Amino acid sequence: MPLVTTTEMFKKAYEGGYAIGAFNVNNMEIVQGITEACREEKSPVILQVSKGARAYANHTYLVKLVEAAVAECPEIPIALHLDHGPDFETCKSCIDGGFTSVMIDASSMSFEDNIAVTKKVVEYAHDHGVVVEAELGTLAGIEDDVKVEAHAASYTRPEEVEEFVAKTGCDSLAIAIGTSHGAYKFTAAQCTRNEQGILVPPPLRFDVLEEVSKRLPGFPIVLHGSSSVPQNYVKMINENGGKMPDAVGIPEEELRHAAQLSVCKINIDSDLRLAMTGTIRAFFNEHPDKFDPREYLKPARANIKDLVRHKLVNVLGCAGKA
Ligand code: G3H
Ligand code: 13P
Ligand code: ZN
Repeated sequence: MPLVTTTEMFKKAYEGGYAIGAFNVNNMEIVQGITEACREEKSPVILQVSKGARAYANHTYLVKLVEAAVAECPEIPIALHLDHGPDFETCKSCIDGGFTSVMIDASSMSFEDNIAVTKKVVEYAHDHGVVVEAELGTLAGIEDDVKVEAHAASYTRPEEVEEFVAKTGCDSLAIAIGTSHGAYKFTAAQCTRNEQGILVPPPLRFDVLEEVSKRLPGFPIVLHGSSSVPQNYVKMINENGGKMPDAVGIPEEELRHAAQLSVCKINIDSDLRLAMTGTIRAFFNEHPDKFDPREYLKPARANIKDLVRHKLVNVLGCAGKA
């Protein structure tokens, strides 16, 4: 099947109590690792491209890589989504350039300005058969070149969501309930430590999610910053010359719970980066004489595939839903 929008995916996910994984893609091996897992698990998927990915790999290369995945996996629905579109022009460029979904992230603007720019993107996107994700509330962490300190982050205010969705016409809404971008989601001071000395993050604000869902019945909610920062890969990185102390993510049980509620899209990027980097670091430590990129990218791609499979089956619940 050709690239699809997320409309049908989200409808089924909402009704079925699962979420679609939205994985960031930056190169061929990442596209292949994700989509091979999705094809084998018969899972719908969203491949998303950030402003940084477009700057790194070039819009056309990324679109063509995703089109190749669509050709290789004709039996699963694949959506191509712009992650954190910073302005109307970037969204327009992706809409004109083959994307089926865009995010306009005006969450750092005032409520009124966020509505105005989101509405403008929605009008253009809907005229071209493309769907729009918007955001209310501010996540902590780093996305593209924007760094939001934990103290500057703010939870979504449920009392704003009905007016926002009604005035903008957006198709899905990203909310802030305590997730955060990157591999260092929480400071040690925000966490407790378990018996193994591993940091345990503060729980997500499910009360905010429930209040939002009550006000927007049937409406798809999106969670950004939802990597779980697998400790086996943090250890692999640290044991092979890396230095990532106290990297901590969102517990997978919390994401599984969110997927059973109104959350239809869960964004995962950092976990794939950790798997890729850990694998490549370990490879070079074991084989200091090797220099063929195919030899170290092959196990990195295989570990991305395994990790995505785990997410589809055990976290998102979307395996078998294609
Ligand atoms: O939220 C941001 C995504 O993880 C993309 O990251 O801007 O480094 O491509 P990036
Ligand atoms: P992570 O950094 O937790 O993987 O979040 C990715 C994301 O939200 C992309 O938009
Ligand atoms: Zn994000």
